[in-house]
Amino acid sequence: MELLPLLILSFCFLNLSGMTFAAESGPPDTNITVQEDDDVILPCSFVSSVNIESMKFDWKKKGTLLQKEVFLYDNGSYYNNGLHGQDEQFKGRVSHFSKELKNGNASIRINKTRLEDSGQYTCIFPDLQPERKIFRIELVVEPVLKIRNFPGAAPEPYVTILKEKGLLQCKVPGASPKPTVEWWDSDNKTLPTKTVQDEEEQGRFHVTVQTTVTEPGCYHCVATQMEKWHRISSEICVHHEPWKIVAVVAVVVAVVLAVVLVVVGILVWCYFKNKKRQKDNKEQEPPSAQEQKLNADQSEPV
Ligand SMILES: *[C@@H]1O[C@H](CO)[C@@H](O)[C@H](O)[C@H]1NC(C)=O
Ligand SMILES: *[C@@H]1O[C@H](CO)[C@@H](O)[C@H](O)[C@H]1NC(C)=O
Ligand SMILES: *[C@@H]1O[C@H](CO)[C@@H](O)[C@H](O)[C@H]1NC(C)=O
Repeated sequence: MELLPLLILSFCFLNLSGMTFAAESGPPDTNITVQEDDDVILPCSFVSSVNIESMKFDWKKKGTLLQKEVFLYDNGSYYNNGLHGQDEQFKGRVSHFSKELKNGNASIRINKTRLEDSGQYTCIFPDLQPERKIFRIELVVEPVLKIRNFPGAAPEPYVTILKEKGLLQCKVPGASPKPTVEWWDSDNKTLPTKTVQDEEEQGRFHVTVQTTVTEPGCYHCVATQMEKWHRISSEICVHHEPWKIVAVVAVVVAVVLAVVLVVVGILVWCYFKNKKRQKDNKEQEPPSAQEQKLNADQSEPV
């Protein structure tokens, strides 16, 4: 088979690029997070262009007892097109990219992801020699939290900048059940916060948290009531304060001026020092022969 050396070569590249096909169990090669109802592409491909149109590849999802059949492709046939056995969960929702097969791309798309799609997927080339190849993907489908109205639904958080330095405060009053209140940066990463108020009053919770930010940018305060699938957020943006820019410019100018002054000072000092030394040398040196002659000439009466 002519393909074999090419495949082995491509696996070498895969190894080099860090995308090794791993053993059947172990850490995933790729982690993917998607929001419920969105489509997702699960990647599985050779780095070099290997035509896999006439090969077989099998996508499975790890289950509690048995693996679920997600997608099977075999030399032009696949589920709902000559092959049978796809799990009910994935019927009519999974497709491959037929035009990509000649480039060695066995990726699949799952349409309208559901929460139960979360889990570990494997893309297996079972007939590949010398060993079948496996690529593993961990998929997380996050629930979409919708704004819903119910008594005690957290209102839009009240966000303020407390100090020019970047102390941000977020207040969520009168919510029930108790919300988690977090500050997120622009990448939706949770920032460390300090809870300054956490009170209950007639079954309603009042929560206030603060965080300190050092970078200008936009931040979100997010209140979540997980039990009710309720999430609501407010944004606040922190700018570079003008006085800070002025201060930075002033410091830079001062440093440049100081450096110039020092350099000029050293030059002037060296110049005078040099001059003084020349003068001192002249006074100490015995008069040269020419000077003696000159002196002698001058001393002669006219
Ligand atoms: C793939 O299918 C074609 C016909 O569609 C056949 O000629 C060929 O032998 C098959 N290849 C393999 C590896 O089964
Ligand atoms: C494989 O094909 C999919 C769908 O077109 C694409 O999103 C993905 O980037 C391709 N993978 C590679 C490695 O080219
Ligand atoms: C952050 O989350 C919001 C929804 O809560 C989403 O619209 C936005 O795209 C996310 N941003 C990033 C960078 O993930």
